[in-house]
Amino acid sequence: MSVIEPAAGTAVSTPDIDLSALTLDEKAALTGGEDVWHLRAIPALGLGRLRMSDGPSGLRGERRGLTRSLAFPCGTAVGATWDVDLAARYGEALAGEARDKGVHLLLGPTVCIIRTPVAGRTFESFSEDPWLTSRLAVAYIRGVQGQGVGCCVKHFVCNDQEFERMTISAIVEEDVLREIHLPAFEAAVKEAGVWAVMTAYNGLNGVPCSENEELVTGILKDEWAFDGLAVSDWLGTYHHVAPALAGLDVEMPGPARYLGSQVADAVRAGDVPEAVLDESCRRVVRLMDRAGARVPGVAPGLVEVDDPGRRGLAREIATAATVLLSNDGLLPLTDGVRRVAVIGPNADHLQSGGGGSSLVLPFTHQSLVEALGERLNGVEIVYEPGCDINRGAVPLDRRLLTGNLAMRYFHDLESNEAAGDDILWGGTFITTSAPSPAVSLDRFALRAGGTISAPLTGLWQFSLVNTGGARVLLDGKLVLDNMVAVPGDSMYGYGSAPVTAGIELVAGEEHELLIEMETGGLPVAGFSLGAQAPEQPGLLGRAEAAARDADAVILVVGTDNDWETEGRDRADISLVGGQEQLVERVLAANPRTAVIVNAGSPIEMPWADRAAANLVLWFPGEEGAPALADILTGRAEPGGRLPLTIPRRLEDVAAQRWYPGADGRVVYGEGLMVGYRHFDHAKVEPAFAFGHGLTFTNFEYGVPEVAVDGWTVSASIPVTNTGDRAGTEVVQLYVGRRDAGTGRPPQELKAFRKVLIAPGETVTVTLELDAGSLRTWDKAERTWVSAAGRFELLFAASSRDVRRRLPLDLPGVRA
Ligand code: BGC
Repeated sequence: MSVIEPAAGTAVSTPDIDLSALTLDEKAALTGGEDVWHLRAIPALGLGRLRMSDGPSGLRGERRGLTRSLAFPCGTAVGATWDVDLAARYGEALAGEARDKGVHLLLGPTVCIIRTPVAGRTFESFSEDPWLTSRLAVAYIRGVQGQGVGCCVKHFVCNDQEFERMTISAIVEEDVLREIHLPAFEAAVKEAGVWAVMTAYNGLNGVPCSENEELVTGILKDEWAFDGLAVSDWLGTYHHVAPALAGLDVEMPGPARYLGSQVADAVRAGDVPEAVLDESCRRVVRLMDRAGARVPGVAPGLVEVDDPGRRGLAREIATAATVLLSNDGLLPLTDGVRRVAVIGPNADHLQSGGGGSSLVLPFTHQSLVEALGERLNGVEIVYEPGCDINRGAVPLDRRLLTGNLAMRYFHDLESNEAAGDDILWGGTFITTSAPSPAVSLDRFALRAGGTISAPLTGLWQFSLVNTGGARVLLDGKLVLDNMVAVPGDSMYGYGSAPVTAGIELVAGEEHELLIEMETGGLPVAGFSLGAQAPEQPGLLGRAEAAARDADAVILVVGTDNDWETEGRDRADISLVGGQEQLVERVLAANPRTAVIVNAGSPIEMPWADRAAANLVLWFPGEEGAPALADILTGRAEPGGRLPLTIPRRLEDVAAQRWYPGADGRVVYGEGLMVGYRHFDHAKVEPAFAFGHGLTFTNFEYGVPEVAVDGWTVSASIPVTNTGDRAGTEVVQLYVGRRDAGTGRPPQELKAFRKVLIAPGETVTVTLELDAGSLRTWDKAERTWVSAAGRFELLFAASSRDVRRRLPLDLPGVRA
């Protein structure tokens, strides 16, 4: 079988894939998944099942709690690297992870544009800017697909908030859609040749994305000549016939509720032409062929491989992503420092990733306290949490377990005949498929047992939610009984309300823990055991005292995967759980404080001017602690630049005026003025500007030169490292307009390059522009134009730190 590569700009036609061996019903079955993570095998064509997995910041696997995977830095961290080579290596490493787990298609990257920082999945996206997002997305996808694993870019399009995500419709003008929200998808298709696109849950201009013909067939397949698979988001298909007619090829998860066998009925009834079904089948076949999904199919087990090379890369990315916002000289910590206070609820256990489908179960969690201790010989390090940021029930911390939980499956709790074994790495287990070949998802039981030991003496609050029935025994004694459960909203809506119990534990004493569960005939099975530590009085006072007695304070504040998660937006962007007060008290006690923000999206930083240094670490993956410790001690430099604007106040973000929408509609009233475009246009001062980030050295920009050949512009500028250590500079080229009254954003990022420059060295950085990068959407003509104009080239170290300007006059052309 061969695969036809389409010429750009032509609709794909694939008559070469011969489907005559398949009946109508067999073809229709291909439009629904086999289960949650697989497309069905097509034995008649020699093709095996195709396995998918989330993504996008690690390879999650299909059962939560069971398969550990390397946790990579989150999307905004990748955005903050401004480094396309690193993004490509990130992709290559993810492909390696995918191969180890038998995965053919990675569900990522997420390339939606960050409209508002309250959106629950902000941390998954790269940036508020379409150019930066596009460049990183293309590199990431090429990195993955170059290794023979596919990417499924998502969520097409405008899944920019979690509020009412399944029902809300984004109301977006065409120029805004074309210039801001679609370019990263377009680049993924046209430049990176992405193998699959996932439609968004939400609607676009009144029509759900999964059945939006203009979007899926008109733009994606016809205009962009996409030859891959259009797949729905999980449970994001809402009708029988409309999605098939609109060009959606596959409904996920399987078994299909709307497509699948129902498409055969629709063909028989004359509601869907068979040619439409055939086209979807060919796309399924093409994807399987590309991904090498062959008979006899993939190995059933999902393998854990902790690859040192990929782990090293995860650390390199975390370092390259960390943004030094300000520094009055405290960092890097010098030899004079004798005592360091490490403070903050996230400080000992950095939050590696956000919540939802992107969450992976990391192999390790190195503590920042330990990582710093390894690097600061002879320095006393004291640690104080200062407060906690628990949003609700606290999942059992893995560190309470002596090892892990041995989990054994049974057909029911009465039988003692084992039907499979697993290892559970915490107190949470959720599966949407049978956990062992010997049992079925809707009917199995399990026992998970191990030893726990509490680090603190006092009254621990235990809680349990589950599907079906479950109970927890401690040293053989029943402590939580939820065998007859009251329905609640846990576990995707299939779980129970929590049952709770306070249990006195003594620090260091070991107890035998046993969790028993029986499924309830549901599409989801699982449980989550919570254990909240006893309230510790005086946390704030202790943190304050530790700060006062230290030469330097490392204060880590932020969120966690319960505050920033798929499925729920944040109410605002202020610090949660008493951290605001903690920052104030610590800064008052000791201004020699570096505040580290460990969150995937912006938070308000009213204290920033009073801290000696401020850094943004994002959700750095599981290598975050050593990466940060390297930076704090000067072994590495913070390489990141902001991929988004940090506002002074949430109200300063343009989209907030329209967020979250009403009556099922959210109007993108800010138009083109997303992110820094708005701050520049409305002349609002951000707390920290898009593109901003310092290093431990300084750079000077020399005199730029520009060569213009028709519409090809080549701009170069010498950049000198004037400091005494090597560092990376991100040279940013914005294009502004000198024509008054265009109504366009004052400046837009059109090129950038990250370069490593030795002390005293001068590097000439060359950046290219062409008609494509300077195009705008003509609403009246509904086409791209590169209009004649009096432009200005801005060579900048951030959107608010323009070092050199050059005028540029260009003739107009139609794209
Ligand atoms: C998310 C997708 C994800 C899918 C499968 C959905 O809830 O929106 O991003 O790939 O689940 O886990």
